[in-house]
Amino acid sequence: IINAIELFSVISTTTVGTNSQDVFAIRAVKKMYQVQKNWMGDPCLPETLSWDNLTCSYNSSRPPIIRIVNMSFNDLQGGISPDFAALKNLQSMDLSNNNLTGSIPEALSQLESLKFLDLSNNKLNGPIPSGLLKKVQDRSLDLKYDNNPDICTNGSSCQPERGSNLAIYIVVPVVVIVVLLLVAMLYFCLQRKRKQGSIKNSVKLKNDGDGNSSLGLESHRFTYRELETITNNFQRVLGRGGFGCVFHGSLEDGTQVAVKLRSHSSNQGVRQFLAEAQVLSRIHHKNLVSMIGYCKDGEQMALVYEYMPEGTLQEHIAGMQVVNCTLQI
Ligand SMILES: *[C@@H]1O[C@H](CO)[C@@H](O)[C@H](O)[C@H]1NC(C)=O
Repeated sequence: IINAIELFSVISTTTVGTNSQDVFAIRAVKKMYQVQKNWMGDPCLPETLSWDNLTCSYNSSRPPIIRIVNMSFNDLQGGISPDFAALKNLQSMDLSNNNLTGSIPEALSQLESLKFLDLSNNKLNGPIPSGLLKKVQDRSLDLKYDNNPDICTNGSSCQPERGSNLAIYIVVPVVVIVVLLLVAMLYFCLQRKRKQGSIKNSVKLKNDGDGNSSLGLESHRFTYRELETITNNFQRVLGRGGFGCVFHGSLEDGTQVAVKLRSHSSNQGVRQFLAEAQVLSRIHHKNLVSMIGYCKDGEQMALVYEYMPEGTLQEHIAGMQVVNCTLQI
């Protein structure tokens, strides 16, 4: 009595799975893009359960091969996987409408059977590989790359981009240096003119006939009468220093000034006055009150400063002080 029979038959292992090179490649792609679909098991077998987005080609004499990859609208991030280039039998690939970035891998041009490649609506950049361009020119490849803002359409149009890099690294520094040199030259020229001007000034001062040596100052010289007008006859007192009283004034153009008038009782002598005037007229610093001019009209001496409306530091620390100042002429 025979109640069981075991039959063995040898089947070719070449057809039990998809072409192993294609399997390696598409698994690498799956890993890179973290594909969440039904991408499990063999990509092409069983035929009814082949992976979404893949179209395989079946032939009884050889393992199935991947012919078409359509991963459009798959929200793919990152660059184009170079593993696509290992799908040697690929005829058509659609990667459009994703968020692919980076440049197009040169390796894609090694796909000998590729007839259709759609990369449009991504964020790719850089040049199109020359191998692909050649195929497009041969009309053996239909390449779509619209709506990739940073892709350059042909090899030569990518040159200007390198050119603009050149501009950034070479032209800009050169321009900056030239501008700096011009500014420096201008500065020196102005400085010279100023010196000449002040020499003229001092000559004028010498010829003033007041018998005193010239101050050689770079700032404006006021007469005593002018100071009277500016300060509205020394009406408003701002403060008092060792030198004398300080009065508020305003120039013709509306600039407010502080006029520091040397009092005759001042213990600061003419020499100190001249020294102060000379030093101040040369020092320009944003943290120092700048000197606008001076007056040396006979016995009358005064320094005209920029007006500081917020008062002195001492006033801020110790509170306002009432200043009495009597004019002695
Ligand atoms: C790829 O699939 C999309 C739909 O998912 C379709 O619109 C598109 O035409 C397909 N691409 C190709 C080349 O067949």
